[in-house]
Amino acid sequence: MPLLRVHFLCCAVLCTATIAARADDHFDVLHWWTSVSERRAVDELAERAVDDGVAWRNAAIPGGAGIGAMKVLKARVLGGRAPDSAQLIGPAITEWADLGLLLELDDVAAAGNWNMRLFPTIWTLVRQRGHVVAAPLGIHRINVLFYNRKVFADAGLAPPKTWAEFDRVADALARRGVTPLAQSGQPWQVATLFETLALSEGGPGFYRSLYARRNSNLWFDARVTRALNRLRELRRYAPQGEPAWDVLARSLARGDTAMFIMGDWAKGELQALGKAVDIDFGCIAVPGTENMHLYSVDSFVMFAGNYGTQPEQEKLAKLMVSPSVQAAYNHIKGSVPVRRDADTATMDACARASWRTFGRGAGVQAPSMVHRMATDETLKDAIIAQLHRFYSDDHVPVGEIQRRIAGLVRTLAEQGGDEK
Ligand code: BGC
Repeated sequence: MPLLRVHFLCCAVLCTATIAARADDHFDVLHWWTSVSERRAVDELAERAVDDGVAWRNAAIPGGAGIGAMKVLKARVLGGRAPDSAQLIGPAITEWADLGLLLELDDVAAAGNWNMRLFPTIWTLVRQRGHVVAAPLGIHRINVLFYNRKVFADAGLAPPKTWAEFDRVADALARRGVTPLAQSGQPWQVATLFETLALSEGGPGFYRSLYARRNSNLWFDARVTRALNRLRELRRYAPQGEPAWDVLARSLARGDTAMFIMGDWAKGELQALGKAVDIDFGCIAVPGTENMHLYSVDSFVMFAGNYGTQPEQEKLAKLMVSPSVQAAYNHIKGSVPVRRDADTATMDACARASWRTFGRGAGVQAPSMVHRMATDETLKDAIIAQLHRFYSDDHVPVGEIQRRIAGLVRTLAEQGGDEK
């Protein structure tokens, strides 16, 4: 049992008791959405919530991929100041539910027919021991390559469908003085690129198996070696340093960089900067990942223990899954609806491709490790640190990283990746 979990178990009783005391009449929502598009998406949600009588107050913790938000959430819960609702994704949902900290939303789900309306993967994700413990908001696709259409048109280039084409295009762009790839050296962004490359090399089945303890030897597989080598090679096309992802989105919008491999929250950001899909920028699947979906699902949990807040919590859960909020919110955020009955006519080409691909089912789906869908927090952070070390230092041999990560998976893996 990971240390963190033991720690939480010890505090669970104390926490549930203290959550009940609410400081004021606000309804605190903790999340990590602080970029321009993320704030707009939150505003859309907050406005709808306020219309429904939920006194939404943002507790926004900066830091891409929720690195800071998770730490703050833990500190708040341990300090007896749990928010009324929090962004929580992946297996973490079930861990918090196991501690009895989450409000069960079974009535809301039954009334909204969630079991029929949600994609099966999403329906599984929001339940623990038969109870619904989270409200899903949107599905992000991570294996997306965005490109600046003007830069490509000016250079007479077509977006790359294979890695050989990618290299040719990137070299041609570099010769024209354009930085080919918007890629940051920030740990979570490096690791996000790596997992996309691992999917490209091995496909969804292989990708999912990587995080299961009994498969730790897969980290020595030639497909991982190739993904790591490519990760390092791509660095030559990228700028120096560790810019935030939204800074990179701006560089793509301006045409200072030509391509950006990033989750489709980048689409939301490009739109917020006044850029439009298929006019200013295009999106295609990363080479080798067409018809695959590397995903992260944004969802919100409600903390239990305050009966006074429960009606608002239930209202918010219902609202988040409602068709109109799903359509409006996801359009701004860059993600796609979690509902199987979503209207594709109102989606742009990127969203339609994402939603349809995800809808093909578990066989094409790959849960993002970096974005908390595949492992627990401890293993995720340890793998990210190794990948970052590898990317930042050319002297670190590929084999050493494989050995270290295999060891981590063997020691720390709790979730069976290929069981998902
Ligand atoms: C979340 C997105 C968010 C992105 C950047 C991902 O983990 O799922 O909603 O926009 O991180 O912070």
